Amino acid sequence: MKLLARLSLILMLLPSTATTDDSVEEIYHYRSRIMENASNHLKALQGYVKGELSIENHIPTHVDALLNLNDIYQDLFPVGDQHPESEALALIWSDPRGFQSAIQHNRRKIMALKAVDPSDMKTMKRAVNDVRMSCGDCHYYFRER
Ligand code: HEC
Repeated sequence: MKLLARLSLILMLLPSTATTDDSVEEIYHYRSRIMENASNHLKALQGYVKGELSIENHIPTHVDALLNLNDIYQDLFPVGDQHPESEALALIWSDPRGFQSAIQHNRRKIMALKAVDPSDMKTMKRAVNDVRMSCGDCHYYFRER
């Protein structure tokens, strides 16, 4: 292994968590990537219920991924984050309970989806759509449009 590769591997393995200590710049890009990840899992589920993707046995993977990502949404928005390109609204910090309930609302919809049998297409369709709308609800109130 090249020295540089080895060094960057060591850096990657160093314990690091995204807390308010991270620079605003870093956390902003991190947040964007996490949201993009959520979007990719949701797109996989949408592709399945539209009949475009035959991935029935991948459904639990995508649903669990959305659930796991939901666990860290709160941490993606440290207080005082004012990145100029961010679309996050200040309401996130002035109404922390509202923001928290938007996260919980999204979580409940993902849990409901998790309970659906993936072969039950009709119910799946509705449940996937409910998840999508619960993402949109948070965006509606807490993201610039
Ligand atoms: C609790 C609130 C909340 C929930 C729930 C939420 N988001 Fe977001 N999302 C935001 C906010 C706020 C931003 C803007 C972040 C920024 O610009 O700094 C955002 C940004 C995004 C972006 C743009 C990322 C970028 O910068 O390129 C995508 C895509 C996205 N969300 C997808 C989703 C999907 C898909 C879900 C549901 C599975 C979801 N979000 C759930 C609050 C939320």
